[in-house]
Amino acid sequence: MELKKGLEDVAIKETSITFIDGELGRLYYRGYSVYDLASFSNFEEVAYLIWYGKLPTRKELEDFRKLMAEERKVPDHISSFVRQVSRNANPMDVLRTAVSMMGLEDSRDGDTIQKAIKITSKMPTIVAQIQRTRRGQDLVEPDPNLSHAENFLFMLHGEKPSSTDVRSMDVSLTLHVDHEMNASTFACLVVASTLSDIYSSVVAGISALKGPLHGGANSEALKQFLEIGSPDNVEKYVLSRLSSGQRLMGFGHRVYKTMDPRAKILREYAKQLSTEKGLGELFEIAQRVEEIGIKILGNRGIYPNVDFYSGLVFYALGFDPDVFPTIFASARVVGWTAHVDEYLKDNKLIRPKAIYVGDLGRRYVPIDER
Ligand SMILES: CC(C)(COP(=O)(O)OP(=O)(O)OC[C@H]1O[C@@H](n2cnc3c(N)ncnc32)[C@H](O)[C@@H]1OP(=O)(O)O)[C@@H](O)C(=O)NCCC(=O)NCCS
Repeated sequence: MELKKGLEDVAIKETSITFIDGELGRLYYRGYSVYDLASFSNFEEVAYLIWYGKLPTRKELEDFRKLMAEERKVPDHISSFVRQVSRNANPMDVLRTAVSMMGLEDSRDGDTIQKAIKITSKMPTIVAQIQRTRRGQDLVEPDPNLSHAENFLFMLHGEKPSSTDVRSMDVSLTLHVDHEMNASTFACLVVASTLSDIYSSVVAGISALKGPLHGGANSEALKQFLEIGSPDNVEKYVLSRLSSGQRLMGFGHRVYKTMDPRAKILREYAKQLSTEKGLGELFEIAQRVEEIGIKILGNRGIYPNVDFYSGLVFYALGFDPDVFPTIFASARVVGWTAHVDEYLKDNKLIRPKAIYVGDLGRRYVPIDER
């Protein structure tokens, strides 16, 4: 039996959702380039595309938007829970528990995508509640008249966001919607393959995404920039970090061996937002880290990934670094649930093997003789 550490290059299913060309740095959702989707589409349209496999007509999109907007409210007892724990708890732990609570009130049976719409519509409400509670602010009710991205920022700040902020948020969410197979999506599939339920799958996805090697990297990358403090410190910081065996956060990817296309797109939004919000120096630091990081690591195929600039975008939009991974989860839930839906159409229990390397035939020694 061959051991494939980290399941590297092991395919778990066929998919028609997302294609990544890691050598050329290209990414397609349902055959559409993310460059086109980031330029011309929006979160709701892309969510529809991912779940249903086709772009919606105007009428379909209108109905879909309305459905999502109607599902934004979170039951009071879940909001109370979020308020009680969010000041001190890790935001991903709060989100994970809140989604788990949502699962208590929904039946196990029924259409996966219908449930996915409910979860996806509510997650930003929970994230905004977490963020506002951390700042000691009152909660803001969702506004059904706003788009998904605009409402997200409205619930965060309690006022209508600028068009640049809305566009930046919308594109960021769109770019996080799916990424073929990865640790969190696989975690969702493992749970789904036992014929558990979609809430349990999403809870598993959030749990896997939380780690700093996956979705937690966006906050780590931003904290790096804050720690560096000035563009003049970048070179020294990067060299000392790498020479002490630490990783450059927001760099490297299992699949991309060149610049992640999402990082390229988000760089432009990070630039525009940082200039507008007086964070120009932070953007300069990031750019310098990118430059020096590529100089040192690029020849090994280690380049900036999505988390490198997304953190800066989320920070400029007003989120705390510890909250960033919950925004990632709020978008990736679309991909998680689409992959679960696709997998369940031809389900096979996921049950890998381990290669036993321990002893056999050991004599049991009674406790008094050990
Ligand atoms: C994402 C990541 C886990 C993928 O790594 P992987 O495919 O499992 O590859 P490995 O962790 O085995 O790394 C391979 C080599 O590249 C190096 N490497 C990978 N990412 C690196 C980084 N960000 N900084 C410095 N070195 C890195 C490793 O040290 C390792 O070197 P070695 O062969 O000398 O031991 C890895 O690149 C990483 O830890 N990046 C930082 C966290 C991050 O940004 N995550 C978000 C991903 S979207």
